[in-house]
Amino acid sequence: MKKTTSEKLLEYYGEGKAPYGAILYKEGKVKDYDGITTISKDMFETQNPDVMDNNLFWKLTTEKSLGQSIIGRPDLTDKNEIKLTSTTYCHLKSALPNYFIGTLLRNEPRNVNMLEIGPGLGNILDLVNKKCRKIEWYGVDVNLLFEHPNLYKGDGYTIPDEIPELEYVYSMNVFQHLSLKQRLSYYNQIYDKLNTGGYFLFGMFIVVDKTENLMIDEDKGIRLFGVKDEYGNYITHFFSQFTIVERQNEVIETLEAIGFVVEFKHINNNYGTFICRKPYLTIE
Ligand SMILES: C[S@@+](CC[C@H](N)C(=O)[O-])C[C@H]1O[C@@H](n2cnc3c(N)ncnc32)[C@H](O)[C@@H]1O
Repeated sequence: MKKTTSEKLLEYYGEGKAPYGAILYKEGKVKDYDGITTISKDMFETQNPDVMDNNLFWKLTTEKSLGQSIIGRPDLTDKNEIKLTSTTYCHLKSALPNYFIGTLLRNEPRNVNMLEIGPGLGNILDLVNKKCRKIEWYGVDVNLLFEHPNLYKGDGYTIPDEIPELEYVYSMNVFQHLSLKQRLSYYNQIYDKLNTGGYFLFGMFIVVDKTENLMIDEDKGIRLFGVKDEYGNYITHFFSQFTIVERQNEVIETLEAIGFVVEFKHINNNYGTFICRKPYLTIE
């Protein structure tokens, strides 16, 4: 019998090493495979953050592989090494944290509050403690990996009431793992909690026309964005959970509709960063 592309890929890479497309296909849940895997409606509907227990899901992923769960590096097991790798490769690689910690927070003349959504092991808190004197750090995460008096366990959608009004909200490598409903809920909550002039700085996977068809490996046919749902949305696949990769303009439209001014946007491969502000009131 003629072998499908996926079966050939499985043979070529070896079991467990084949790209997602082939693996999903093998599970019998994929319609076809042409370098882009299409996951079924049923698969998406049963494996997304709105129907899964977020607290349990993230607890299990960290138990399974802390390195994979925090920074996509299953080979790393030491907490300090994971924190350092996250700071060096995931955060500082983009200009955002340099600007956030090195410029905004360090030069902040007032005593102000910042909230980090999904702080993981607390690598950004370490940096803030080291470099910024005037900042009171708060955190919310669905799975608490360290103790801090201002770190709260959240429900995945809302900012706990105990967290006071804020001047800064920061989140890296978290929003790509959220459902559209969770993203929208956080955007609205952040807007309400921010004082006027306050900043919301975050990063997540984003697609634009220019990156849509990029190949990571031309010979092996591996794409930067290789998974779609039945409606044509690009999908992030993470420990059996699926979330949508939005287009940059869609994200900006959503943020602006809430009232944010998007002051800066940047794309590096599949990663988009945004600097948004709650505008000062203008009197006409
Ligand atoms: C990939 S890790 C990144 C951790 C950290 N930001 C870093 O860059 O090292 C994602 C983090 O987001 C948290 N998280 C996932 N969904 C969340 C949600 N809905 N609300 C708050 N935190 C969430 C996870 O528990 C985890 O700590």
